[in-house]
Formats: sequence, C-alpha cells, structure tokens
Amino acid sequence: MKNYKVAVVGATGMVGRTFLKVLEEYKLPVSEYVLFASARSAGSEIDFMGKKYTIKELNESSFDEGFDIALFSAGGSTSEKFAPIAASKGCVVIDNSSAWRMDPNVPLVIPEVNPEDIKLNKGIIANPNCSTIQAIVALKPLHDKYKIKRIVYSTYQAVSGAGVAGWNDLENGIKGEQPKKFPHPIFNNCIPHIDVFTENGYTKEEMKMVNETKKILHDDSLRITVTTVRVPVFNSHSEAINVEFEKPFDLDELKALLASSEGIVVQDDPQNNVYPLAAEATGTDSVYVGRIRRDFSVDSGINMWVVADNIRKGAAANAVQIAKKMMEMDA
Ligand code: A2P
Repeated sequence: MKNYKVAVVGATGMVGRTFLKVLEEYKLPVSEYVLFASARSAGSEIDFMGKKYTIKELNESSFDEGFDIALFSAGGSTSEKFAPIAASKGCVVIDNSSAWRMDPNVPLVIPEVNPEDIKLNKGIIANPNCSTIQAIVALKPLHDKYKIKRIVYSTYQAVSGAGVAGWNDLENGIKGEQPKKFPHPIFNNCIPHIDVFTENGYTKEEMKMVNETKKILHDDSLRITVTTVRVPVFNSHSEAINVEFEKPFDLDELKALLASSEGIVVQDDPQNNVYPLAAEATGTDSVYVGRIRRDFSVDSGINMWVVADNIRKGAAANAVQIAKKMMEMDA
C-alpha cells in the first residue's frame, strides 16, 4: 500500500486535537504529517505520534510541498479560501466545516452510508454536520428496507459542538459567570437556538439536518422537520428521532436490522434502565440506538433515541474514517 502525506489544518482546535487523537489510534499508512493552524499558534509544539510537532501557519503556499490528503477543521472561511488551493495542488481535502457541504460538486460522506460517493470527489469531500451523521448512521439501514417517508428530529446537543468557547461557557457558567459564546446561560438551561436563524424561522443547524439528510441519502422526496436544542452536557449529542415508513415492519426484525448494521450499537433494555447515554458514548466512535418503539399514532413508524460522540463520530472520527476508506479504495 502507498504511504500518504497528510496535512491537519486547525490542529489546535477542539476537532483538530481530536483528529490527532483518532489518527494515533487508527494507525493509517502515513509517512508524514504536517500540522497547521493560524498565526496565533504557529511555532507552538504539540505532542503527536510520540514526538513533538511544531505548528505551522497556514498560508497560500502551504500546499506547495505536496500532500495527498488534508483534514480541515479551521472554520468555514478558512475552508472556503484554502480548500480550493489545496485541491488545485493535487491534495484531497476532507473538510469538517459547512462551507462545501451543499456544493453539487462536493460529495458529503459517511463511510458506513455512502462510501461510493468518495469516488465522485474533485478534490474536496465534505464531512456532514455532527447531528446529521449520527442520525443517518441509524436511519440508512431503515431507509433501505422500509423506505422513509417522514422524519422528525429533536436534538439535545452538547456544548463541545460550539468549540472551546462553548465548552468554556458551560464550565464558567457553573461558577456563575456570564456566557461569552451562547446568547443565554447554558448552565441549568436548554437553548432552542443553534447557529443563526434563517428567514423561515428555522436555524441554520436545523436546515443543515434537513438538507444534508436528503443529500446523503440521495432522496429529495423525504419530508423532514427539526428542532435543535443546546443542552448543558459537555460532550455527545442525543437525538429523539421519529420516523414514518412507507412499508410495514416487524419491530423485532427492525431492531435486529439496526443491531447488525455497521457503526451501530443497540442499547435497548428499558426494564433494566439500558438505553444510550451521552456520558457513556463519549470517547467512542459508535452510534448508540435505543428506546426503539412503535409510533402508535401512524400506520408505520417508530421513535428512537440516538446518541454519539459529536466530536469523534460527529466530526473527527468520521473524517479520519473517510481518509481510511479512500486509502483502502486506492489500494
Ligand atoms: P488557532 O489555535 O491558531 O487559532 P475551535 O473551533 O475549537 O475554536 O478551533 C479552530 C481551529 O481553527 C484552531 O486550530 C485555529 O487555530 C484554527 N484556525 C482559525 N482560523 C484560522 C486560519 N485563518 N488559518 C488557519 N487556522 C485557523
């Protein structure tokens, strides 16, 4: 197998640091890593793969030295500017921001769901929104078998999804300090407002879940509605998902289907208080599904509770898994 040269852009950030952790664990066939961030942290050192790496400042010529793959998590404007530069130098960018997700020339990939879309890339592959990734890992096998008609997503999202600043707001809020990142205190609160509001009354986060679900499942006919809520949990998003199907189903068969699908762990034994929990999902790359029960208000539908580590499966691990899949496809 070929040995790859990989850039990590935004290596000092919340997702960037998790890129490094996941890369250490996954042991990909990489001969050289170069870590980039802004001028603010250029020159500082990070422990990675058992040695010290010096952070380089990202600039227009950063990709001239030739990279095979670049993992980006440095915000939308950095991706907008630098992903095309990297791609023009022959590097494939796996971008964690929302900048390129809905571009028709950019595949939006979850490796368990649509790995074949990786091949359609023209230099940029987008990593979906964190809430969307965990939902679709759970929904894809159900869509294939029972054909989804309508989805109602209600999310309970951790502060780590808002980066270091979001994390600090909860930590400092517990001590009584005012928030800096969120519009209201997050401690002791639930804030039904993630990202900015759009003209239709939904937030951008909500519309990301609608649009990205359709794009990844290649199905514009899906009817989807969403409420996204920030909750005082440090890490791992939880989601109540209501799904209506076109076809009938047997509940035991549906649970068995989920349990045998890639990337999913079913935790569903309510009599013994077993169901997915944010605190237990943290630090892992699986999507946990439980509270699976028939929705009696429709002909064919279920409710389920879906939990995953939003920084790992919802961001860094999914991106590294895309890189791994690309390498396997090359081999
Ligand atoms: P830096 O630490 O130098 O500011 P988070 O979302 O957790 O705040 O992380 C954002 C990441 O994106 C950090 O690694 C940050 O680097 C990086 N970043 C922000 N702006 C730029 C930029 N213009 N060029 C390169 N990296 C950037």
